[in-house]
Amino acid sequence: MSGRIRLDGERKRVEFTFEGERVSAWAGDSIAMALWAHGREVLRRSSRLGTPRGVLCNMGICYECLVTVDGVSVRSCTTLVEDGMTVCRGGVRG
Ligand code: FES
Repeated sequence: MSGRIRLDGERKRVEFTFEGERVSAWAGDSIAMALWAHGREVLRRSSRLGTPRGVLCNMGICYECLVTVDGVSVRSCTTLVEDGMTVCRGGVRG
């Protein structure tokens, strides 16, 4: 099932790590929203000034929310959480 909202009432919890810290989230949530729910709003630092960056558009356009998942740079607002994934701050704009 690819939809984010399930009407049968079942919601599964998943766990992943962010900067080495365990985070629990609902399956179907984006990484960005799962982290936001845990108060983790800074997802990377700007390359020039080192200023904090996080979710801006929340729809995959701005690339401000880049994180690294298991070594791959992804937009956290369009990538769903998966059990056991390793998420780190930052990412490389492609
Ligand atoms: S917040 Fe804009 S691409 Fe993710």
